[in-house]
Amino acid sequence: MTNLENIDWAHLPFGYMKTDYNVRCTFKDGKWGEIEVTQDETINLHMAASCLHYGQEIFEGLKAFRGSDGKIRLFRPDENAKRLQNSARGILMEPLPEDIFMEMCKKVVKLNERFIPPYGSGSSLYLRPVEIGISPRVGVNPADEYTVIIFVTPVGPYFKEGFHCTKVAIYREYDRAAPCGTGRWKVGGNYAAGMGATARAKAAGYSAALFLDPKEKKYLDECGPANFFIIKGNTYITPKSGSILPSITNMSLQQIARDLGMEVEARPIPLEELAEADEAAECGTAAVTAPISEVVDMDNDVHYVIRKDGSVGPKVTDLYNRLRAIQMGDYPDEHGWVVMVD
Ligand code: PLP
Ligand code: COI
Repeated sequence: MTNLENIDWAHLPFGYMKTDYNVRCTFKDGKWGEIEVTQDETINLHMAASCLHYGQEIFEGLKAFRGSDGKIRLFRPDENAKRLQNSARGILMEPLPEDIFMEMCKKVVKLNERFIPPYGSGSSLYLRPVEIGISPRVGVNPADEYTVIIFVTPVGPYFKEGFHCTKVAIYREYDRAAPCGTGRWKVGGNYAAGMGATARAKAAGYSAALFLDPKEKKYLDECGPANFFIIKGNTYITPKSGSILPSITNMSLQQIARDLGMEVEARPIPLEELAEADEAAECGTAAVTAPISEVVDMDNDVHYVIRKDGSVGPKVTDLYNRLRAIQMGDYPDEHGWVVMVD
């Protein structure tokens, strides 16, 4: 059993830590079975499973938080349930019913309660649901049996800098998704496609790669692990594109922006418009809100300096603070986003 005595909760990496249990559910003979609880970290998989050969693999990411009142909160798990179903339909997998997803999330959090980082540590418990096609397939066909697993792991911020500005890089020779491809679904292959650009960006000292739209290479799309937005004056502007993942964090920040009296625009953003941005950030479950001080067009050596002094801007700070406060239970859940686990 993992010993938690010496864990530095405030300085956790975004990585895997062994916890006590994971939960699983399998679709077989045309129906979903009972939820199973196991301590096994491995899976027994047929060597011809469709997930291995033809990429029938989708996943999700969501977080559980310990509030100042000691209660456990999940942030918008119903949206993750719906997106997992959309991803499943996108690549002809079996959609997991929302009620099973919710029950699995609550169960796995409760069973691993001792791994939820304490209030005030800045860390949280990350839930990783994953669905795979398990039927043997040699011809390119969808499986008829599927397994969903949800494991959890305590995590700190995705970017080691935390809530501080970083720089991101654009390379035109990479796309994470095709124009009518799988970018709008959370398919593992999108992340494999993005790894080359991300590795180059990191090696050059940037925190992430920012992808352009794959059709015209004219508009901003998103980063490898997160959506993107800019602030111009009092307006929150985020890309509208068929090749990006519909981020639950972005959706929430757009609502928070309205709540804070800001305007919101979801539209194609030409790369050059970065010159007019007052602030910019990545956003996602793992990234939360990660401020950006500079975007570099590596192909043309053009530097879009957004925060000259490297400081986090006031609007991004307000958005981040309100989001975190709702997640922790420090601000009223006016939109019904929080699901309590008891
Ligand atoms: N875009 C990509 C490619 C992602 O992997 C993620 C993470 O899930 C996001 C955006 C952010 O989505 P969400 O806010 O729902 O976590
Ligand atoms: C998340 O934010 O939950 C994600 O899935 C991003 C991932 C690439 C770490």
